[in-house]
Amino acid sequence: MKVLVTGGAGFIGSHTVDKLIELGHEVRILDCLQKPVHLKGMPPWINKEAEFILGDVRNKSDLQKAMQGVDAIYHLAAYQDYLPDLSNFIHTNAVSTALIYEIIVEHKLAIKKVIVASSQFVQGEGSYHCESCHAIFSPLMRAENDLIASRWEHGCPNCQTTLNWSWTDEKHVAPPNAYALSKHSQEQQAITFGERYGIPSVALRYSIVQGARQSFYNAYSGACRIFCLNYYFSKAPTLYEDGGQSRDFVNIHDVVDANLLALSNDKMAGQVFNVGGGTAYTIKQFADIVRDEVQKRYAEPLPEAVMPGAYRFGDTRNACSDISRLKEIGWKPNHSPVDSVREYVDWLFAQDNVEDILEYAEQTMQKLDVVRKSA
Ligand SMILES: NC(=O)c1ccc[n+]([C@@H]2O[C@H](COP(=O)([O-])OP(=O)(O)OC[C@H]3O[C@@H](n4cnc5c(N)ncnc54)[C@H](O)[C@@H]3O)[C@@H](O)[C@H]2O)c1
Ligand SMILES: [Zn+2]
Repeated sequence: MKVLVTGGAGFIGSHTVDKLIELGHEVRILDCLQKPVHLKGMPPWINKEAEFILGDVRNKSDLQKAMQGVDAIYHLAAYQDYLPDLSNFIHTNAVSTALIYEIIVEHKLAIKKVIVASSQFVQGEGSYHCESCHAIFSPLMRAENDLIASRWEHGCPNCQTTLNWSWTDEKHVAPPNAYALSKHSQEQQAITFGERYGIPSVALRYSIVQGARQSFYNAYSGACRIFCLNYYFSKAPTLYEDGGQSRDFVNIHDVVDANLLALSNDKMAGQVFNVGGGTAYTIKQFADIVRDEVQKRYAEPLPEAVMPGAYRFGDTRNACSDISRLKEIGWKPNHSPVDSVREYVDWLFAQDNVEDILEYAEQTMQKLDVVRKSA
């Protein structure tokens, strides 16, 4: 097949491109090498056997050129950040998706599959239950008053007991920010336009994806990057809240497997699937995984993570995706966060100028003023 991968210079895109080429597909990349993701320009990992088009998914003629003659499209290019430029999320992520369908319909392109990258963020806080009331809840964002008072977990609106999080399935939708809204729109477009115009389409709702090539310079690559960078310099990373936030982490190679399955499997069309790690870890447990991995490279004992009661307003407390539907189709995660961290650490230790990277990351977080402190 001839396959277009938008965002093919990025983390998930470049690994997907490598696999497609390994399997004998012809690949074209459309990527604008967005900054700060690609702060240093063209990354060295772009597959030489792929055709590279420098262009913007917001630009119809760039997209049209890139879509010429392809059989399938992975739409992975996206704007992901903490900045409040709300329209940019919708424009880059949602409008570009509409443009893809518009071009297919307008030019009667024979596209066999469109695969869009959604995010666990679409589910927001996910599903919770109260053991006392035997009731299910979908709490919204936590109030700042609770966070100031270090009340991290959601309370039951009936009996105030601490709610327990549940594995959350694809039906659950509660986008808490512009990014999540744009990703939900992509899912809805894949289902609606796919059905309406007979274009087999799949939306994959990834959990936190981890592995090598995740940009050092974006603000969103999260815990793996920050913890690894801190331990690289033998510094204790700072955990937000009490480090008890639960997450599932999915390895990049498992995500690539899910991407490839979505291309070949006809039963997946017209649906949204969670792609997650299947096991929940607290952020503290994850920080310990990072410490153990980096420790293997140092003689001096590395410090424990610190928890000064800081929090990021707007963060979800717990987010863990139920992956049973994709498992029924025949996919399962084969790698653990230990594998992901090991790959990331190997990659990190092979970089030059790591000092500059940590300084850049810390400055960006301060500038954004998203980190606040409880009383
Ligand atoms: N990494 C994760 O944990 C994660 C989790 C859930 C969903 N996703 C989704 O997966 C997809 C890929 O994410 P990633 O982690 O590889 O991100 P990334 O930032 O590494 O890659 C995105 C790529 O898109 C390109 N791009 C951005 N805006 C563009 C534009 N306007 N025109 C053309 N190219 C543009 C960037 O240059 C970059 O190469 C995204 O859609 C993201 O929303 C990622
Ligand atoms: Zn209750």
